[in-house]
Amino acid sequence: MGQVEWAYDLAKDLLETTLPRRWAHTRGVADQAETLAPILGPDTDTLIAACLLHDIGYAPDLVDTGMHQLDGARYLRDIARADERLCRLVAYHSCADNEARQRDLLDVLVKEFDQEQPDLARALTYCDMTTSPDGQHLDVRDRLAEIHSRYGPEHVVSRSISDATPCIVSSVRAVEAALAARGRGRLEQSD
Ligand SMILES: [Fe+2]
Repeated sequence: MGQVEWAYDLAKDLLETTLPRRWAHTRGVADQAETLAPILGPDTDTLIAACLLHDIGYAPDLVDTGMHQLDGARYLRDIARADERLCRLVAYHSCADNEARQRDLLDVLVKEFDQEQPDLARALTYCDMTTSPDGQHLDVRDRLAEIHSRYGPEHVVSRSISDATPCIVSSVRAVEAALAARGRGRLEQSD
């Protein structure tokens, strides 16, 4: 079984019944990953698998610290025996070091997981932060506003997202720029 199929089955098992909206979001995030094939090439399958797994830490059976990025990455490392790159991507997805700091878990996160290469980490952030809770594509600014309104101003997730906003927006814009440059290159080649 390929990495993408394995990740799909695992995420579906963990999310579809208990968290159907989260599963819809997850599938939308993975759809976004497929659109990045022109700039990621052979790493696209790793990104799709990471997108499918990025939110499994919300599954009720996996909740431990309450930081879903860390809980999901630990499950992948210790139980699912996933590829190390997937563990790293999930652990830090969407600039999670900010949430780790807010939850006083940054030392734990850094000790347990290394960061993945920046272009893949940015790509995962792009896919997550341009996908609504129902799996629809949307602009990153609308996505950030949606998170704030869903959690409310006092919640640790809202505070973390505020801290992470520069990292999230710059990641998304970098991926958009890479896609646009790739598109321009294609047009020039066809002239
Ligand atoms: Fe997500």
